[in-house]
Amino acid sequence: MWSFFETVRNRHSVRRYEPDMEVEREKLHAILETATAAPSAGDLQAYQIFVVTDAVQRQNLVEFSPRHEFIAEAPVCIVFCADPQRSVDRFGEQAGKLFAMQDTTIVASYAQLAAVAAGLASAWVGDFEAKGVAALLGLPAKVEPIALITVGYPAELPELTPRVPLTEIVEFL
Ligand SMILES: Cc1cc2nc3c(=O)[nH]c(=O)nc-3n(C[C@H](O)[C@H](O)[C@H](O)COP(=O)(O)O)c2cc1C
Repeated sequence: MWSFFETVRNRHSVRRYEPDMEVEREKLHAILETATAAPSAGDLQAYQIFVVTDAVQRQNLVEFSPRHEFIAEAPVCIVFCADPQRSVDRFGEQAGKLFAMQDTTIVASYAQLAAVAAGLASAWVGDFEAKGVAALLGLPAKVEPIALITVGYPAELPELTPRVPLTEIVEFL
């Protein structure tokens, strides 16, 4: 079992998947349960999560994210949506919208780490046409798709990506 630090280090964006290796329901459940343990503003969890496993729908999603054919290849695509009304009701328009966006991106990044811990791989797709995705999946009008996270068993060793040295992005005051 990896430590938390090892789990983080072993998360890399994977863009090739074994299309015939289904993600076990128990693993998917564990990923979602773990992800929703993420903190959220006022404990409101101002997001909705939609899990797309249907092969036809995954292929249809590519239409709204044309550079990402791998959405069809991965057996699971999790659509993380902000549900701003939940937090706007409590915190007002400006803070509520910001908190919903933050809640949604935190839960999505927890899901990516949980996927690694479950022996799976994932990729974050932010480049997609949100309105098209919402219409295709019949999402409620109140939610806004923020991130598509593909999940599956990897079929590639991903490229390691560079990081900016801490000295350039961290300042101790
Ligand atoms: C907000 C956000 C949006 C992203 N959008 C895309 C995307 O549209 N397509 C894609 O292939 N990768 C996308 N990525 C993945 C990044 O390219 C990737 O995380 C980055 O290159 C670092 O590589 P790593 O994930 O392997 O550490 C996105 C990541 C984030 C956090």
